[in-house]
Amino acid sequence: MAVSSLDNLGALSKTVEDLGRRHAGYGVKDGHYDSVGVALLWTLEQGLGKAWTPEAAAAWKEVYGLLSSIMRNAQQAAQARAAA
Ligand code: HEM
Repeated sequence: MAVSSLDNLGALSKTVEDLGRRHAGYGVKDGHYDSVGVALLWTLEQGLGKAWTPEAAAAWKEVYGLLSSIMRNAQQAAQARAAA
């Protein structure tokens, strides 16, 4: 979904915020996003071989960083509201 929406990521925001809020229910903690990001990039590198160019790596890092920050922010905001 993220790849097919690359030219219009803004439209994905609400979906991704909802996804972040659901992840709180899966027991996901903020620090898990960094570990999963490292694992995702490593997996793509193993699978893509020569196609894992510096440009591809930078693009995936940016997309994962963007999606995970939207998810983290939505999850943190929901947890702050629940704690208030
Ligand atoms: C950009 C980051 C991530 C994306 C795009 C993503 C995406 C998804 C999607 C689409 C689902 C299917 C369920 C749903 O739609 O609610 C899911 C489930 C799940 N994700 Fe993530 N996720 C991300 C990060 C993480 C992280 C950091 C963890 C922590 C280890 C995690 C753990 C889980 C778990 C435990 C489930 C439920 C699996 C199940 O019970 O079937 N995710 N994720």
